[in-house]
Amino acid sequence: MKPIKVGLLGLGTVGTGVVRIVENHQDDLLSQTGAPIEIAKILVQDLSKQRNIPISRDKLTDNPRDVIENEDIDVVIEVMGGIETAKTYILEALERGKHIVTANKDLMALHGPEILAKASEKGCDVFYEASVAGGIPIIRTLIEGFSSDRITKIMGIVNGTTNFILTKMSQEGAAYEDVLKEAQALGYAEADPTSDVEGFDAARKMTILGTLGFRANVALADVSVKGISQVSKEDIAYGKKLGYEVKLLGIAERQDDLISISVQPTMVKQSHPLASVNGVFNAVYVYGEAVGETMFYGPGAGEMPTATSVVADLVAVVRNVKLGIGGRRAFVPYKEKKLKTDEQISAKQYILLHVADKAGVLAQITQVFAEYDVSLESVLQHPNPSNPNAEIIIITHEANQASMKKVLKKFEQLDVVHAIKSVYRVEG
Ligand code: NAP
Ligand code: HSE
Repeated sequence: MKPIKVGLLGLGTVGTGVVRIVENHQDDLLSQTGAPIEIAKILVQDLSKQRNIPISRDKLTDNPRDVIENEDIDVVIEVMGGIETAKTYILEALERGKHIVTANKDLMALHGPEILAKASEKGCDVFYEASVAGGIPIIRTLIEGFSSDRITKIMGIVNGTTNFILTKMSQEGAAYEDVLKEAQALGYAEADPTSDVEGFDAARKMTILGTLGFRANVALADVSVKGISQVSKEDIAYGKKLGYEVKLLGIAERQDDLISISVQPTMVKQSHPLASVNGVFNAVYVYGEAVGETMFYGPGAGEMPTATSVVADLVAVVRNVKLGIGGRRAFVPYKEKKLKTDEQISAKQYILLHVADKAGVLAQITQVFAEYDVSLESVLQHPNPSNPNAEIIIITHEANQASMKKVLKKFEQLDVVHAIKSVYRVEG
């Protein structure tokens, strides 16, 4: 039986897992695809590096041509990361008729449409299940499992590093900077944590989920992004007292044909299933008009979970090749993208203000909300002996974003408002 030959670009965390699964699950893979799978060539940067798996030296190369231009190779798996070089290699491999599997969310969020268009032109498959939420099969679920439904909301905890940090802050009352250092020491957060903690990694993943869920070409620039670096232990403590956990949520919403997508720290009601997703775990909550509420939970990263998704994509490619339908089952967004304006985006908000502790201040504050037609669900004044200001916590009813911006601007101008300490969306 002719084997399907695979070229691997990268043998780091994910690449190593891919080799392990292809070797250890050979019989199952053969039964499911009808073809033996052979990893023929592996591109690395440093040929002298010690590898975590036994690998024959003649399989390794530091010359990308040995993979991309290798006529024996049917499928290229890109697990090297980065954007421009990975994109160049993938486009060249597609040009030569090779199918692609990638785990690269940065690449797919920025250049997905171009790569998918080239694949369609060349009759090739491009699958990227591992690019969002590592081991959770959310991409295939959105494309196939929900093909019959119309999705109205996707909320995701799609970044494990920030969920680890927020969980530790919540469970131990620790400060952001201390937990970040711990996450770096444990290898969860990178030396430069910006991409994770400022929400950019989650934004790339939400670009992909938004495109698939709403079947419209969402661009990274369409996602409004706020990270967790300003979340304080006071925010978390107040949230808890009121029955909320702070989570970095990617939120994609649709009403009729209008969509909005954001990544932001959010007060999630403790009774909502996303509130109990802890540590480095990921979860994606999907609401469909017909199905109602669903949620998908699991490991968002790591060698074997991520490789599971990569090899599942490989199985899909090999099946398509065997059936002679490679490149013909691609997901193509077919809806026009229409983004909501600030007037059309509405949500409940949590606001923590430090204000002058004297008569009439609360009246002035509630007057501002009334002026912009923002209705309040609750107002609490919390005694804090260590703070000469009064601490006021407000939770609004659903209010549109444009009005909320005006309210906050007005607070900045009021003498009695000494600080707008926090503003978070509320969910659940
Ligand atoms: P990694 O551990 O840093 O491994 C990268 C591999 O690619 C290494 O083997 C490296 O070679 C090779 N490489 C990098 N640049 C290269 C270049 N220009 N030419 C040749 N080889 C090059 O990365 P990873 O964690 O496995 O991540 C791979 C991809 O999967 C990324 O796109 C990442 O976002 C995605 N992903 C990762 C995870 C995860 O849990 N790690 C989860 C989901 C998605 P050397 O070994 O010689 O240095
Ligand atoms: N940095 C990412 C995270 C890795 O923390 O979730 C998986 O994409």
